[in-house]
Amino acid sequence: MEHWTSSPEELAKAADALRSGALVGMPTETVYGLAGNALDAETVATIFEVKRRPTFDPLIVHAATLEEAFGLAAEVPAEARMLAERFWPGPLTLVLPRRPDLPDLLSAGLETLAVRVPGHPVAQALLKACGLPLAAPSANRFGHISPTRAAHVLEEFGDAPDVAGVVDAGPCDYGLESTVVGFPGGGRVVVYRLGATPLEVLREVADQVEAVNAAHPEDEADRVSAGEQSPGMLARHYAPRTPLTLLEAGAEAPVSGGRTGWLSFDRVLEVDGPQEVLSTRGDLAQAATRLFSCLRRLDRLGLDRIVAWKVPEEGLGRAINDRLTRAAVS
Ligand code: TXA
Ligand code: MG
Repeated sequence: MEHWTSSPEELAKAADALRSGALVGMPTETVYGLAGNALDAETVATIFEVKRRPTFDPLIVHAATLEEAFGLAAEVPAEARMLAERFWPGPLTLVLPRRPDLPDLLSAGLETLAVRVPGHPVAQALLKACGLPLAAPSANRFGHISPTRAAHVLEEFGDAPDVAGVVDAGPCDYGLESTVVGFPGGGRVVVYRLGATPLEVLREVADQVEAVNAAHPEDEADRVSAGEQSPGMLARHYAPRTPLTLLEAGAEAPVSGGRTGWLSFDRVLEVDGPQEVLSTRGDLAQAATRLFSCLRRLDRLGLDRIVAWKVPEEGLGRAINDRLTRAAVS
């Protein structure tokens, strides 16, 4: 697979590949996406195949502008417009009533379609260069850790013939996926997936913001209801291959049998074995950008287990804890 820079000449090659029906690794401000022409049913089916993603889990369609994104919906609730005007381009995905003429598989059988206008300048340039809306799930095989660098996309799909290449724009700014929200009616705004736009920030703009599920998949009732409304909210997700144990913030390091790797928020631990600290200055944004690459590094070492600590449950910390909780489900 090709490894393109974001120069206009190389972006033109990536855009050609997209127009011809191939898939391309696309940088965004959240994570790298595996992009393909959203208007072509065969291409959309290829995305599911290449990712080995179950066909009940719908995709996010990326558009260059608010008008184009809303043009993909049958209807735009007032709350959606308000959030889009405030947060687009940016790491927020809106679930809207779907336009019936778009490929069914995008929506995985639901009556809704998820859309987002990414803020990354290279994603914007690629969308404009190819002139298509792009369906793009995170560029990892289903259930794996999301990619925050072009090298991660190569690791995941380097041998996949349908993936023409990846556009390398360096590490992603947020390192966490977009926040996914839906509008079930009555002015409610329901957060299906916590992400790079924090709950607190959404609440400054909309009145009735409810979080489904959050970082507590042990709560079976919540998990089931979230799963029904947003099929991607599977309990085990974003998972390293190495078993992961998640501890409350401040809990003492357990005595470990076997080879253990450690993932802490801001403390450098006095332990044996490889250790990653998400942010020694205790900054949640820095922790978010480092989360998936730290997990990948530990996962590569062939350890018996990874022990991780929760981060403060506020702002981006909610989404970090959500991903760690999912990674810990066995
Ligand atoms: O930041 C992101 O959102 C990245 C970048 C590439 O844009 N994309 C991403 O896509 O994370 P993916 O496919 O890994 O996650 C999409 C999430 C899933 O949890 C899925 O279930 C949910 O969005 N979703 C998509 N369409 C939906 C719909 N119609 N109703 C409810 N949830 C939906
Ligand atoms: Mg994903």
